[in-house]
Amino acid sequence: MNPHVNHDECIGCELCAEICPDVFEMGDDGLAHVKEGADCAAAGCCQEAADSCPTGAISL
Ligand code: F3S
Repeated sequence: MNPHVNHDECIGCELCAEICPDVFEMGDDGLAHVKEGADCAAAGCCQEAADSCPTGAISL
């Protein structure tokens, strides 16, 4: 899995960073970013984060 946040769609709701903090973090720009070296397989929460994003900004 190669998580990606589309910054044209992210509204900064922070759900992904709450649900899957090992992979997603909030940036100074108020948008979600994928952490350096993030590993969805190890974290096990990327799909839930993607499904929970209200704007569908997360692709895997
Ligand atoms: Fe943005 Fe969706 Fe996360 S709106 S902050 S990518 S849950």
